[in-house]
Amino acid sequence: MTGDGIASGVAASGPSGHLGGTAGAGAAPPPARALTGAARAAELRAEVAALAASLTERGTTPRLAVLVATEDESTAWYVRSIARAATKTGIVCDTVTLPPTASPDRIAELLAELSADPAVHGVILQTPLPPGAVAAELAAAIAPDKDVDGANPLSLGRLAAGRPAFAPATAAAVVELLDAHGIELLGRTVAVVGRSTVVGKPLAHLLLDRDATVTVCHSRTADLAAATRHADIVVAAAGRPGLITAAHIGEGAVVVDVGTNPTPEGGLTGDVDAESVAPKAGALSPVPGGVGPITTALLLRHTVRAAERAAGAATGPEPGAGPGLT
Ligand SMILES: NC(=O)c1ccc[n+]([C@@H]2O[C@H](COP(=O)([O-])OP(=O)(O)OC[C@H]3O[C@@H](n4cnc5c(N)ncnc54)[C@H](OP(=O)(O)O)[C@@H]3O)[C@@H](O)[C@H]2O)c1
Repeated sequence: MTGDGIASGVAASGPSGHLGGTAGAGAAPPPARALTGAARAAELRAEVAALAASLTERGTTPRLAVLVATEDESTAWYVRSIARAATKTGIVCDTVTLPPTASPDRIAELLAELSADPAVHGVILQTPLPPGAVAAELAAAIAPDKDVDGANPLSLGRLAAGRPAFAPATAAAVVELLDAHGIELLGRTVAVVGRSTVVGKPLAHLLLDRDATVTVCHSRTADLAAATRHADIVVAAAGRPGLITAAHIGEGAVVVDVGTNPTPEGGLTGDVDAESVAPKAGALSPVPGGVGPITTALLLRHTVRAAERAAGAATGPEPGAGPGLT
């Protein structure tokens, strides 16, 4: 942990909800501050709604297409929630459905058609996919300027090269959540647990671009706790409920839980064992209610940005601006 401690950055950003633990008179440490995402997500949605209204007035209605090739019920629920959020902000959302037996060629063909349609500004390929279909391969058929969830390998390459690109919304949401809570990244050490192309890898590039010092961990990391417990900030994105315990974090660390693991009761749980981590952490994002709401809002922001570009209403970041076109 850095000398001045991440906890001071947390305290400076003001009071908020707390997670678990007991605040004793000098005895027990104060419980972790809850890094909730709802307030920032609401701000983002309001910004998107204003931009979408202005674009629509000028003749371009932002439109998002979500390609689904699964009958998985939780995926259907997630896609409906994106469509609802889009509609509320003035973005038209088309769910384009293929049967779960669709061939990879058919999926790629449809992605290319949607990418070529001038009325469509954002294209998302929803997972899971039919057996034999590889998301990263198929997403290459999404035009980079419509790749609002950063799934095309070209988008990840541009992020890695420090060039503007759409980052996957979940990875971008982690940075947005930390910014919203006033948590400094410059010069901080961050351990990211998970190296997927959807979360861990793009997040590492976004954090590097913000001058953090980043360690990326994965299932072959020999001693996970040794790799994470000295980090100022730990981001858990492994899809393993309860993987991160108090032994994995330092006193006062900021912990962001990206995990969304279904529980037998039909709810969601993260990758962090909140009961043991909350009394030791400086701040902890809840599941649900942390990264998730911001992720959806960023998908919409990316779509409206893509529509602005298509309409010639935005010229993009200044030359030299880092990755993460949000
Ligand atoms: N909140 C949101 O909006 C949102 C969006 C997307 C995903 N998610 C959630 O985020 C989590 C990760 O998603 P993903 O798509 O990145 O998953 P993924 O593709 O399965 O990748 C998981 C990563 O975690 C690593 N890992 C697995 N077990 C580990 C262990 N015991 N120790 C250290 N690393 C381990 C894997 O290592 P290897 O590379 O070695 O296999 C892999 O890199 C899931 O719970 C997912 O549901 C949330």
